[in-house]
Amino acid sequence: MIKVIVQDPNWTEIGSFEAEKWKTITDLAQKYDVEIPFSCGGWACGLCLCEIVEWKELVNGSFLQNPLMELHENEVLTCISAVKDEYFEKEWDYTIMLKRRF
Ligand code: FES
Repeated sequence: MIKVIVQDPNWTEIGSFEAEKWKTITDLAQKYDVEIPFSCGGWACGLCLCEIVEWKELVNGSFLQNPLMELHENEVLTCISAVKDEYFEKEWDYTIMLKRRF
């Protein structure tokens, strides 16, 4: 199982959900009622930007397309990011920790 925990900009945990193959992090957050702000739904506004605090290597930040804005090394736009397919085949459990920018 791959769990995603979301924190607000003040490091307070606001919710979590289980990752699903081929689903963006923003789509899953909406499905499980975990608030990650978004607007454009596709790499332009930056509202969905999160810092990956733990397990960045599990996240494909260009799952739908390449981001058009400059991002720091641990940042992703969650509207175009998803957990990498290969990690769903592993037997281990992971907990990805995200911190919202906004
Ligand atoms: S929702 Fe605008 S960049 Fe993700």
